[in-house]
Amino acid sequence: MASEQPTLAPPDPMTLWEGGEDPVAGQGDALLRVRDLDAAYGKVQILHDVSITVHRAEVVSIIGPNGAGKSTVLKSVIGLLKPRAGEIDLAGMPIGGLRPDQIVRHGLGYVPQGRIVFREMTVVENLEMGAYSVKDKSRLRPLMDDVFAIFPRLAERRRQMAGTMSGGEQQMLAMGRALMGEPRLILMDEPSLGLAPRFVEQVFERIGELKRAGMTMLIVEQNAVKALSISDRGYVLELGRNRFTGSGAALLADPRVRRLYLGG
Ligand SMILES: Nc1ncnc2c1ncn2[C@@H]1O[C@H](COP(=O)(O)OP(=O)(O)OP(=O)(O)O)[C@@H](O)[C@H]1O
Ligand SMILES: [Mg+2]
Repeated sequence: MASEQPTLAPPDPMTLWEGGEDPVAGQGDALLRVRDLDAAYGKVQILHDVSITVHRAEVVSIIGPNGAGKSTVLKSVIGLLKPRAGEIDLAGMPIGGLRPDQIVRHGLGYVPQGRIVFREMTVVENLEMGAYSVKDKSRLRPLMDDVFAIFPRLAERRRQMAGTMSGGEQQMLAMGRALMGEPRLILMDEPSLGLAPRFVEQVFERIGELKRAGMTMLIVEQNAVKALSISDRGYVLELGRNRFTGSGAALLADPRVRRLYLGG
């Protein structure tokens, strides 16, 4: 007898879906739903009918070549770029076209590409900035303790100016700052880009810890092997369109994906 429970994954977890169809759209407990998104810079249209779904407690990766539009998807979701067309819902609430500060208040965290921190501020001050949307200021201390538990290095460096820290430490700080807003979902743009190998490992370990703690994440990554290895599902974008989607394992195993994006 067929189960009445909606399934989160496509029936066969090793199935790869091609083209614009999003096989999990409408299934399960979708926290973020991006449907047929078009986005443009001026007259130049970059995204064409992009669809992406992230369920609660899922880690989903977006991979694809340089210029595919990966960052543009995240910028559209967080409200830095107004969508031309399409729908963006967070927990069933339409957020497409809202301002970034409004969207942050709806529970979205954003770690932009290039580990942007306030260089002339200390670690603690940077983390406090991340909590600007938290109304109950008595939450600050426990939130910061949670961040320090995940990133002990930040606790050691709490009085240090962010600009004087290593690239890896700044990336941890950028991630910690996003956590301070008590997000329901965190968007991360290239968290490992340009980091020394041991920091790359650490960043992915921390993402794994956040996942085990139940955090929902949408990650854009150049390091597709690492990203897909820790992801429940992934989307491959090419020239601003959905190209493939499937489980992290299915994408890692597919010869076309391997040849095009995984260097083998
Ligand atoms: N502010 C902007 N103004 C005009 N064009 C832009 C702007 N930002 C990005 N683009 C263009 O949009 C396209 C998609 O860029 P996007 O940054 O989304 O790609 P990406 O997949 O994140 O690439 P990368 O892997 O290099 O980070 C590119 O052709 C880029 O040149
Ligand atoms: Mg990018």
